[in-house]
Amino acid sequence: MTMMSMSFDVHEPMTTIDDQDVKVLLLENIHADGADFLRNKGYQVETRSAALTEDELIEAIKGVHLLGIRSTTYITEKVLENAPDLLAIGAFCIGTNQIDLAATKRHGVAVFNAPYSNTRSVVELAIAEIISLARRLHEKSTAMHGGVWNKSAAGSHEVRGRTLGIVGYGNIGSQLSVIAEALGLSVVFYDIDDKLALGNAKKCATIDELLAISDVVSLHVDGRPGNAGLFGDEQMRAMKPRSLFLNLSRGIAVDTSALRRHLESGHIAGAALDVFPVEPKAQGDPFESELRGVPNVILTPHVGGSTEEAQQDIGRFVASKLRAYAKAGTTNLSVTFPELNLPSDPARHRLAHVHHNAPGVLATINTILGDHGVNIEGQQLATRGELGYVVTDVSAEVGADVLKELAALPETVRLRQLS
Ligand SMILES: NC(=O)c1ccc[n+]([C@@H]2O[C@H](COP(=O)([O-])OP(=O)(O)OC[C@H]3O[C@@H](n4cnc5c(N)ncnc54)[C@H](O)[C@@H]3O)[C@@H](O)[C@H]2O)c1
Repeated sequence: MTMMSMSFDVHEPMTTIDDQDVKVLLLENIHADGADFLRNKGYQVETRSAALTEDELIEAIKGVHLLGIRSTTYITEKVLENAPDLLAIGAFCIGTNQIDLAATKRHGVAVFNAPYSNTRSVVELAIAEIISLARRLHEKSTAMHGGVWNKSAAGSHEVRGRTLGIVGYGNIGSQLSVIAEALGLSVVFYDIDDKLALGNAKKCATIDELLAISDVVSLHVDGRPGNAGLFGDEQMRAMKPRSLFLNLSRGIAVDTSALRRHLESGHIAGAALDVFPVEPKAQGDPFESELRGVPNVILTPHVGGSTEEAQQDIGRFVASKLRAYAKAGTTNLSVTFPELNLPSDPARHRLAHVHHNAPGVLATINTILGDHGVNIEGQQLATRGELGYVVTDVSAEVGADVLKELAALPETVRLRQLS
């Protein structure tokens, strides 16, 4: 879609809302710390434990400025059309597939999420699993529950001095690197991007180089389309005999039939999987996988990032992003908006102008301000795809006539005056 053919929703200019008039709706049992944070800022916060259907949400969202959801409330175009006061949506989770992001941009609604809050939880699970697999803990515990006392050191190893190969050295992979080194593992990694090696970790030029030297291989890649089937028979063959394999990243990255074959042949000595090509949709739905029942395989139901600490961190993190946007116009780490990390200075008067990204918008805004004798004290512009965002600090509150003129620009998507 070309920029100019995209139809944007034009809102009335919005002047400063006092904190006590900001309405927040938090759904799906978001951690209480998120609501507490926003209440402490004076906002009116309503919380609900369940997700809402489209019709329920349309009813509930009237007059709401900030909306918080998790993964099962769907934000559709129709919801946004019925939410003229909505400024921002906080996805109190990592994924944003449940939100029609293109529609949020057309409606000038900023979206935030929590991309980092559960990374430590994933790392800790990976560490626990590396040690569990090396010591065959799962197998031993299962045998004990079956009444079998098999006190043997055969096949049990320390991890100290072993080589961990991390594929995907992003937020999780790089943290795992640091903690694994602290346990005495040597770390090598492979990433398609040029990443800084932390600690004593060594970068591999190819995935094959990593596979040839790693005693444990752990996948931490993202879900880009090219990663489907990233790890199959060929890669497993290239692993060292009796090595261990972990995938806590994306289910589609691994060929589980090939993994089963390599586990049964003993070439791979153990595996831990937290994500699967097909996962049950709802709590209690049956789990099907060819890896069920294979010895020394730890299967967990996509809980790598699911800890109370992560939920708490997500609650605080996303709530603070919503607040910073509502109060100061800050869009740092927004999923969709151009990013501006702005000082929160209550002494300033601020105009936050979201527009579609076309040449000359900044000049037009400044001409209008200049024509009305408005003195600009500071200004920042950022663009991202079809959106532009300019924030202008001015010396005095801007009159309704100026706001009206700015709002009437054909490129304007949303205009707010913040004090
Ligand atoms: N199991 C869970 O509960 C859980 C929780 C959080 C995140 N995750 C998943 O973990 C994965 C990593 O998360 P993150 O926050 O570290 O992501 P990230 O985007 O910070 O890092 C991913 C890294 O993988 C690299 N990469 C992508 N494709 C690659 C390839 N083919 N070969 C080598 N490197 C490649 C990227 O360049 C990037 O550095 C994601 O897929 C995420 O969805 C799982």
